[in-house]
Amino acid sequence: MGFFRWVCTFFTLQFFLVKPLQSELFLSSIELEEIPKYFLNQTQKAEVLNWMVGIRRKLHENPELGFQEFETSRVIREELDKLGIFYKHPLAFTGVLGFIGTGKPPFVALRADMDALPIEELVEWEHKSKVPGKMHACGHDAHVAMLLGAARILQENRHKLQGTVVLVFQPGEEGYGGAKKMIEAGALENVEAIFALHVNSDLPIGQVSSRPGPMLAGSGFFQAVINGKGGHAAIPHLSVDPILAASNVIVSLQHIVSREADPLDSQVVTVGKFQGGGAFNVIPNSVTIGGTFRALLKESLTRLKQRIGEVITSQAAVQRCSATINFFDGENFYPPTINDEKLHELFSKTARNMLGSRNVKESKPLTGSEDFAFYQEVVPGYMFFVGLKNETRGRTGSEHNPMFMVNEDVLPYGASLHASLAMQYLLEKEVENPEQVRTLHDEL
Ligand SMILES: *[C@@H]1O[C@H](CO)[C@@H](O)[C@H](O)[C@H]1NC(C)=O
Ligand SMILES: *[C@@H]1O[C@H](CO)[C@@H](O)[C@H](O)[C@H]1NC(C)=O
Repeated sequence: MGFFRWVCTFFTLQFFLVKPLQSELFLSSIELEEIPKYFLNQTQKAEVLNWMVGIRRKLHENPELGFQEFETSRVIREELDKLGIFYKHPLAFTGVLGFIGTGKPPFVALRADMDALPIEELVEWEHKSKVPGKMHACGHDAHVAMLLGAARILQENRHKLQGTVVLVFQPGEEGYGGAKKMIEAGALENVEAIFALHVNSDLPIGQVSSRPGPMLAGSGFFQAVINGKGGHAAIPHLSVDPILAASNVIVSLQHIVSREADPLDSQVVTVGKFQGGGAFNVIPNSVTIGGTFRALLKESLTRLKQRIGEVITSQAAVQRCSATINFFDGENFYPPTINDEKLHELFSKTARNMLGSRNVKESKPLTGSEDFAFYQEVVPGYMFFVGLKNETRGRTGSEHNPMFMVNEDVLPYGASLHASLAMQYLLEKEVENPEQVRTLHDEL
């Protein structure tokens, strides 16, 4: 579909708009359904695709960890400057907030995370990470390139936007709670809804998946120091053994999920850290344990936290030990990622129009976490996965693995989905709000 066709589409659209219509009629018009395909076609053009690939590779060579994304931020701003897109900077140290459209409500946001991981890249290729010990192993380099791709296509079509698209380039997703800091810095000001995507190496290229309601678990971390009284291993009765106490604590922690949680409400408690002692014949003074807990519902997460605290303290006391517990509140407590039902409908329709029904899958909830959940606590939000897998190109490592590789064929899919969702959201708002529509007609 060429540009001329798009112009026609737009005028058809205006024609519909002057009538007091229901969104059903409006959105079932054939032309509108073609917007997602049109955007995909635009972003698959060599000029746009190569430009996104270039950005992604540049970022891949220079990975930066949470809140240190200074060069990444500079690259983003440079591209926004070239596109003539207004932005605010810095938010949360390195974050960038771009604006496309009228500058007036409604505002809809699209989010990309920017940070890399402390992993040494093991993939040998031309654009391998140039920074020892750091790697874009979670696809955030591609997320940024895709949001810039969406920005480009939306900017080209900005005169058709009745409202404002907010581009949220967010630092520190990998355990730094960058989303929270972006919100505190005003990233969601006026924003009514927000979308985000994540690449997925298990899902075939050309497919997307998501679900309404709980999508990713909320998570928290804990660390506890269990204090006893050190002494000679041969005369344990004169000591208070924190190793035995900590062992019992860990066993008891495993009973929380198995005996107290609804089996149909998925939850996890894992102790991944156990440090104490250093000699065969010494009972140490203390032992440190630490771990993570996950749940798909916020109430369950809160309850897990409470019970982990109680179990550690009480079980340590059974063995005459005391315990101090740290839950690292504020930094590491992520709420569950819960997708808004209405935005799910919008996503399904848009994705089906672009990719066909059989390429739009319903995903299962996962016990991984995302700081996108912080945005969803403030406004309705929606997150979805975009597939990377293409076995004819060879197998690659999965996310957070040193062999992870982004299949760059994904870039047009992500970019055009972002752009289509934003455009579709604003168009639906227009229909819901006839006053605005009439004003628009008068102006034409
Ligand atoms: C985009 O659409 C045009 C016109 O229909 C077509 O000729 C072209 O091959 C399409 N491009 C891609 C990348 O699909
Ligand atoms: C998968 O990779 C092959 C080989 O590079 C390519 O020809 C094909 O178009 C890819 N499939 C999709 C759906 O992108």
